[in-house]
Amino acid sequence: MITLSRKRIQAIISLVRQITSLERGIQMKKSLKTISLMIAAIMFALIITGCGNSSDSKISVGIVLPTKDEPRWVQDEQRFKDALDGTDYTTEILFSQGSSAKEKENVETLINKGIEVLIICPQDGDAAAAAVEAAKKEGITVISYDRLITNTDAVDYYVTFDSLAVGAAQAQYLVDNVEGTNVPLYLYAGAASDNNAFLFFEGAWSVLQPKIADGTFKIANSKEAESLKDKADLSRDQLGKIIGQVTTNWEPSDAKNKAQTHLTAASDDLKGNVAILAPNDGTARSIADVFGTDKAVSSFVITGQDAEKASIQYIIDGKQSMTVFKDVRTLVKDAMDMAVKILDGDKPETTGSYDNGNKDVKAKQTDVIVVDKDNVKKELIESKYYKESEFTGLK
Ligand code: BGC
Repeated sequence: MITLSRKRIQAIISLVRQITSLERGIQMKKSLKTISLMIAAIMFALIITGCGNSSDSKISVGIVLPTKDEPRWVQDEQRFKDALDGTDYTTEILFSQGSSAKEKENVETLINKGIEVLIICPQDGDAAAAAVEAAKKEGITVISYDRLITNTDAVDYYVTFDSLAVGAAQAQYLVDNVEGTNVPLYLYAGAASDNNAFLFFEGAWSVLQPKIADGTFKIANSKEAESLKDKADLSRDQLGKIIGQVTTNWEPSDAKNKAQTHLTAASDDLKGNVAILAPNDGTARSIADVFGTDKAVSSFVITGQDAEKASIQYIIDGKQSMTVFKDVRTLVKDAMDMAVKILDGDKPETTGSYDNGNKDVKAKQTDVIVVDKDNVKKELIESKYYKESEFTGLK
């Protein structure tokens, strides 16, 4: 079947219009038959060029994800594939493998394939600006996916989970599951190049700060957080200072090294029963492994997010306390619904907006669910997100 992109069809229509007016202009000097033949020949040539690079003109939605090295994004790829299975949307998914240069290259590849909508989760929120500006120049609509692309006008829409709620839920879990006062609190954060890391920490701080002020917790591993502990609302700069000190860079190995350093430096009054704010599942598992081997740590409550399979097993085994389940099926559906509306020339539905430093980006936001050993079966197995057979010891 010959597939013509909307741009190509518009080009053909406008050419036909030009020829028709030319036809009127030359006042029938040449015969109508010759002109009709000319039109047919030009249209045929256009269609042939369309066919020549038909594989190029077929891709209407390009999807760029940050890395295949983290289960979270492989999960998103799979959910996109599941959602697209049996539909006739033409899409291509590319991974940036943690590199903003590769990300820009991916966007350029997709531009050359004639995409009309770009769904992109940036590796680095600021650095991705150049890539999406290149896409915008070609008239492509840009949807920022999960992570916001910052400090550029070249973002049209944002589909996201409620990231402030993610951090707040993690912190609330710690508050609800510790006993006594002066509980040592270990803070960890995501990568400073990811706007979400700020939102997660801001959400967590809004719940933790009053509990630090009332003596429930004492901060164990961050002088920057300690110096700001009386401030309920932190500026972006202040958040940046704490994050800079306790960042995992979203790398499990960085998280492990930091946790080891912190425990080596900690006096015994910073051990015993402790609370740990871990930003996501990958980092939570490595931090939990380190705390689990320190004999002076008698128990710990530790957070996570993403409902990664390995962390669900950790939760079943009592090695991680909770995760925040972000149902990627919903995010993928929101992103694809948005893309299809745009392709159809309609306005996508949005529920709010996010300031990216340059503009308020219209956004569609999805809620999150707290999962621990008590509701893991209901939320993840009964909802058919995972199969029971993928885990051992699930009751
Ligand atoms: C995502 C998390 C993910 C983290 C590390 C964040 O932007 O929202 O789900 O765990 O990046 O990739």
